Amino acid sequence: MSTKGNRDFRPEIHFTPPDMWMNDPNGMVYIDGVYHLFYQKYPYDTVWGPMYWGHAVSRDLLKWKHMPIALHPDELGYIFSGSCVYDADNTSGYGTKENPPVIALFTSHDSETGLEQQSIAYSTDGGKHFEKSYRNPIISNPGISDFRDPKAFWNPLKKCWSLVLAACDRVQFYASKDLKEWTKTGEFGTCENHASGVFECPDLFPVHVDGKVLWVLLISMTTTVEDGKSRTQYFVGDFDGDTFTCTYSADEPLWVDFGFDNYAGVTFQNYDEPLFIGWAQNWGYAAEVPTNEFCGQMTLARKLSLKMTGVGYRLCGKPEGLKQNGASAYPIESGAHIASETFGIRMHGSGDAMLYLKNCKGQRLTLEVKEGRISVDRGLAGKRDFHEQFMTEQYSKAEMKRLAAGDYDIELIFDVSVLEVFADDGLEMCTMVVYPEAPYDKVKWQGDLKVEFYTIGTGLHA
Ligand code: FRU
Repeated sequence: MSTKGNRDFRPEIHFTPPDMWMNDPNGMVYIDGVYHLFYQKYPYDTVWGPMYWGHAVSRDLLKWKHMPIALHPDELGYIFSGSCVYDADNTSGYGTKENPPVIALFTSHDSETGLEQQSIAYSTDGGKHFEKSYRNPIISNPGISDFRDPKAFWNPLKKCWSLVLAACDRVQFYASKDLKEWTKTGEFGTCENHASGVFECPDLFPVHVDGKVLWVLLISMTTTVEDGKSRTQYFVGDFDGDTFTCTYSADEPLWVDFGFDNYAGVTFQNYDEPLFIGWAQNWGYAAEVPTNEFCGQMTLARKLSLKMTGVGYRLCGKPEGLKQNGASAYPIESGAHIASETFGIRMHGSGDAMLYLKNCKGQRLTLEVKEGRISVDRGLAGKRDFHEQFMTEQYSKAEMKRLAAGDYDIELIFDVSVLEVFADDGLEMCTMVVYPEAPYDKVKWQGDLKVEFYTIGTGLHA
């Protein structure tokens, strides 16, 4: 058991494992009103180890019930990231039409050789227990060192299943009629705006916008060569049923989040709209964070959409599930006292402004809008000597050029040790972890702002 912690940093409305290590969200699927979240889990320590799939379920995306471990390592290796599909027509034959199976597709990672192949498992009790297929691996390794993280989805163009997986510096597409036999249909890897690094955890999904359907491809990259960060890039384009083409290229890489703590995020399967959850951590320092008995949390669920801006189509995100909680916002003045560790702040303004959360130890977390840029600075926000990288300048302040002009509305959701920011209708999103040594109990600002406050989630995470 770790003794890293110095106070309880467990967020209330962000999903955390009951104890021990967690990284990527896996197998997210919506079945009969229930959201299933599986995740990369190491059940015996607060650092990464041989991977299992943990499991939790929720009806509102805020309160989660922990379930028994869904997948254990086996003779093919650790259970790396992957996805689940709800096989409603029993195309796999693993269930019946009356009782359709849930199929998990994941990477088997051989810890001795590093060999990565894709495997499947099926559940006939709605995702509680899984049996692995005797056919595993169902996609063997074609001689590629990093070959993982299959994300399966229904292909509406070819009326079959498709999957996208990461293959070193590109993604590959495969198709199948029965989720068991897969044929490669295409690859995507070069586009003038792609940042370099090993590709991980891809996702591909359609987005309805301006009377058409565009496809968004997400690719996470640890240690992008350009700036050494782990982040998730996205591409906007077309899917012809076989492969993806980036038709709306940009001058620079497009990032889902401008903060430092949103990685390996993907969307739910069997849900009408793209609903995204990411791992709210960064590989650089994840294993050292001072959270005591658990390590790792997820972002809030975000509904994703596309919006045309002055520089082309850009991804927008909106937190999902918070309104069910009945929170109503009220106006506050600068200097207002905060009596909760989980709350939301909405700010409206037009000119340059700076807003900060402060605690009794003089620590402060700052959000600034200046000359058309928005930034979050955690350099003085709390404990940071647990890891060298976390202390650096580069990992203190995250910023992004606004994609909208003029007045702004910015929503901050703060939850004990995680900040999420949604600005300009979600065109700018930011996730940052912070470890204040006492709760923030004051909000102050400079500049001409109208600010509203609301509390959320008290007592939710039992
Ligand atoms: C991404 C990742 C995946 C892999 C998993 C292992 O964070 O590296 O590519 O499947 O984590 O835990």
